[in-house]
Amino acid sequence: MGKGGLEDVVAAQSAICDVDGTAGRLVYCGYDIHDLAEHSTFEEVIYLLWNGRLPSKSELATLTGQLQKNRALPKEVIEAMKKFPKEAMPMEALRTAVSMLSMYDPEAEEMSPEANLHKAVKLTAQIPTIVAYIDLIRNGKEVVVPKEEGSLAESFLYLLSGGKKPDETAIRSLDIALILHADHELNASTFAGRVAAATLTDFYSATVAAIGALKGPLHGGANQEVIKMLIEMGTVANVKPHLDKMYANHEKVMGFGHRVYKTEDPRATHLRKMSEELGKRSGDTKWFEMSRIIEESVKADKGLNANVDFYSASVYYMLGIPIDLYTPIFAISRMSGWAAHILEQYANNRLIRPRAEYTGKRDLKWVPFEKRQQLEAVK
Ligand code: COA
Repeated sequence: MGKGGLEDVVAAQSAICDVDGTAGRLVYCGYDIHDLAEHSTFEEVIYLLWNGRLPSKSELATLTGQLQKNRALPKEVIEAMKKFPKEAMPMEALRTAVSMLSMYDPEAEEMSPEANLHKAVKLTAQIPTIVAYIDLIRNGKEVVVPKEEGSLAESFLYLLSGGKKPDETAIRSLDIALILHADHELNASTFAGRVAAATLTDFYSATVAAIGALKGPLHGGANQEVIKMLIEMGTVANVKPHLDKMYANHEKVMGFGHRVYKTEDPRATHLRKMSEELGKRSGDTKWFEMSRIIEESVKADKGLNANVDFYSASVYYMLGIPIDLYTPIFAISRMSGWAAHILEQYANNRLIRPRAEYTGKRDLKWVPFEKRQQLEAVK
């Protein structure tokens, strides 16, 4: 049974994403992540993940147009979001709002490939709006109607700021971050989504399962924990004493380690560079400098590499994004990968139902309460 956690178990065949943990390579449908991060856009990557090939100009324009047109939320969902508790975690609010969307989509239970592709488009377009509205509503601000123009990254930043035009560096930085987070083979949330989809439940239910799994601190929740740690450390001088305290308390250092990568996470390579550039641009390189020292120390002390969540934390912080929106931003991106996997699962489905090795007791005889109490007393 090994260490559990399905480590190294191949649980599906998939043509979407390949992770080579030894070589530190990440490939979407045949294209290296370094190539895509440098040359592509998030919309182009969405097309790639859903179709297995890069789009022509007109195909990209069509998908971009569909994503632009589907940004608005049903008014009932906005009204319900206004009634959510102000202190609700954004991931709770996101999970709930996405679940609500299905009740306002006449195609929700329609299982044809076309209808499911429509749902992929709608959810990918609407999740950024939901995340921005969560922040606006909890801060007592008016929600802004999304424009049917510009990229998904631009639209999200525009909505989040309450209707200000975002600057080009922020748009491109977020766009690259979205490309880097878009898919990662059978990560926990994608697997959760595929398990749900394999019961032939609807697209929304599979997405809600994935969001629930992403929320955990061992998965997407790690990026928020990283920035909290950096803030708690506060200064470059405090990094090492703080790390020593964490080691002594047997605490995990968030943003380090990975189930598959045994070397540098290729997504961290880009995010490290972005963190440095954004620091220089803002004139405050403290977060990057602290991150570098943490990275070198954890590598030397524990032999662990930084993962995608480590440098995304300082990148989002320098983009001025509220800390508890980091994991929802991961969801904005990963929705594209979840959709690709849910569609792939529906297209060639078999129920996912593994077995457990039973380690409990056997052959016990039922006894009435009085005797059970006696048994407890004996124990
Ligand atoms: N900090 C300190 N020690 C860590 C660690 C971390 N971030 N990640 C792994 N380790 C240690 C474990 O304590 C364990 O040590 P042990 O063998 O002495 O008990 C060993 O490395 C193996 O770790 P394990 O938790 O079994 O690996 P895993 O494959 O089950 O877990 C993660 C992978 C990602 C869940 C794990 O590395 C982790 O919790 N990282 C922090 C959370 C995080 O950044 N998640 C985002 C992933 S992209």
